[in-house]
Amino acid sequence: MCGIFAYLNYRVPRTRKEIFETLVKGLQRLEYRGYDSAGVAVDGPNKTTDINGNSICLIKKTGKVKALDEELYKKDSLNLDQELNTHFGLAHTRWATHGEPSPVNSHPHRSDKDNEFVVIHNGIITNYKELREYLINKGYEFESETDTEVIPKLIKYIYDNRENDEVTFSTLVERVIKQLEGAFALVFKSRHFPGEAVSTRRGSPLLIGVRSEHELSTEQIPVQYNSAHINGVQEKNHHNSSSSMKSTGEGRAVEYYFASDASAIIEHTNKVLYLEDDDIAVVTKGELSIHRMNRQAGEDPVRAIQTLQMELQHIMKGNFDAFMQKEIFEQPESVVNTMRGRICFDSNTVILGGLKDHLKEIKRCRRLIMIGCGTSFHAAVATRQILEELTELPVMVELASDFLDRITPVFRDDVCFFISQSGETADTLMALRYCKDRGALTVGVTNTVGSSICRETVCGVHINAGPEIGVASTKAYTSQFVALIMFGLMMSEDRLSHQKRRLEIMAELKKLPDLIKEVLSLNDKIKTIANELYQQRSLLVMGRGFNYATCLEGALKIKEITYMHSEGILAGELKHGPLALVDKHMPVIMIIMKDGCYIKCQNALQQVTARSGRPIIICSKDDLELTKNAYQTIALPPTVDCLQGILSIIPLQLMSFHLAVLRGYDVDCPRNLAKSVTVE
Ligand code: AGP
Repeated sequence: MCGIFAYLNYRVPRTRKEIFETLVKGLQRLEYRGYDSAGVAVDGPNKTTDINGNSICLIKKTGKVKALDEELYKKDSLNLDQELNTHFGLAHTRWATHGEPSPVNSHPHRSDKDNEFVVIHNGIITNYKELREYLINKGYEFESETDTEVIPKLIKYIYDNRENDEVTFSTLVERVIKQLEGAFALVFKSRHFPGEAVSTRRGSPLLIGVRSEHELSTEQIPVQYNSAHINGVQEKNHHNSSSSMKSTGEGRAVEYYFASDASAIIEHTNKVLYLEDDDIAVVTKGELSIHRMNRQAGEDPVRAIQTLQMELQHIMKGNFDAFMQKEIFEQPESVVNTMRGRICFDSNTVILGGLKDHLKEIKRCRRLIMIGCGTSFHAAVATRQILEELTELPVMVELASDFLDRITPVFRDDVCFFISQSGETADTLMALRYCKDRGALTVGVTNTVGSSICRETVCGVHINAGPEIGVASTKAYTSQFVALIMFGLMMSEDRLSHQKRRLEIMAELKKLPDLIKEVLSLNDKIKTIANELYQQRSLLVMGRGFNYATCLEGALKIKEITYMHSEGILAGELKHGPLALVDKHMPVIMIIMKDGCYIKCQNALQQVTARSGRPIIICSKDDLELTKNAYQTIALPPTVDCLQGILSIIPLQLMSFHLAVLRGYDVDCPRNLAKSVTVE
């Protein structure tokens, strides 16, 4: 998905080389989102320069950020040692949606050949065709196939037709976004407003980091509505605690970092401000202010600066070869972070702070609907059975896109969970708005503080797994799993009939970090099995009951990063079709645990072996019969049935990692995929 990064230094002298380094580093931190081209806009000589000597230079390149970095130093016309006291630079990684990856389709996009206005964009403009046609009729010439290009053209059109010269940069942007439909995060730069930055968003994330010598924790940013200044108290968010700040005073040395996610900012500052939809953030003479198009009833008149808890080391690879590998091995700690401060193992109680005020309402609901995409959907499938058991409520699990396609009936007494690592997945966000419109109680289960899903839900749970950089989701899955289990435990706390079951689950949750460590110690064995399998074209993963979700999630991991065909098959469906695929050549992984489905799974195993299949069996290490007789086994420590899925997915995460490495693929950035899917 596209990545936005921009850097403004005000009265902080930086050489052009230092500015390039900051911009490129920002893009590198966003590389994990997936992209196919990159570009920057900086002050510098262009073919035309205005009477004040202002001009903007664009440098764009297809391929990796590294290629762009090399290109920057080839520009003889740019004096790299020149010190710029105040400067604003834009940088962008593009993931093609309209038009192939090429320099001309890459961002920043420009208003005209003189680069009067340039813009970087994340999202999709759905009415771009109409706008484009309108602007072409007005004589504006387009050079790219993108939806984005209408934006700089439109701002120039509004600027060219301004009533007077007093018009501000933010007013121009406000007029532009009134015409836009779709989703966007935008950052604008203009040679008519040197040293000024304007950014805005609707539906796509955007945050601003602030670095200043001045103590920020005592300050607050007032929001201006239609240019009227309104004072007020800091805003609160159910997911966050936050500090507040005053706008930085004119003349003070300050640096601003604009980015589509926090990982590009954290090495510079942990003080950030998340923009809300239709906020217009303006930096003029070093002063940041927030404007809004129109005031909505009940809106707070300040935006709070938050302190990010994330640290740079959390987003670095450390001793691992890939972020995905690091994240797999972090799971003993990430599940603890999910439980920290929520489960008291002494009193066997669970309190999810973000949900406790809504518990009564949830208990009275008609049904629980759990909605997500990809891995987040699988976390819902994995916990459905235990949630049905502990809550005694009907639980529906829904893929967000299908849920919307079906125009699924939703009622005021439904409780809808939106599960998302990023908190920005467009399909899940749309489903959230759909359920909200129908009056259901909305609950977020996200990993990203300040994300759209976290802000737009009524209440929620942060899974606290820490930043997940690898496109293939791993630790977020196990933490989502644990968070949903904790919800079930909290819901059943006052049910006498469930106490035995609750205690059994809690005892095993306590042991979970050690159990995960034990599974991770099988890494070498799994690598050996991967060595036998990596040249295969296909890989089937079979199981049922509590382990069906493991099959779906394991197969998703395999197809996503190894590009092998892989299918997660419900063992109960085997004889209804998939058995036809089984012969001695087809690799099959079977998950067979000593739970309610044990006998049925053994039947499935027989059906496979009777067709000369040689299954690799993931089973419990105390299952001596299976471990003795199987072709290959991956023997896991036993645990309670409803938590098995947390352990049984780990061998498949490791397997997909080793297969991808052996097949020579980029584990963290699989082709055609992005970490955060902010388009429907
Ligand atoms: C999983 O490995 C995927 N990359 C993908 O399926 C992902 O889980 C899905 O796009 C949903 O993302 P979210 O959790 O950020 O909403």
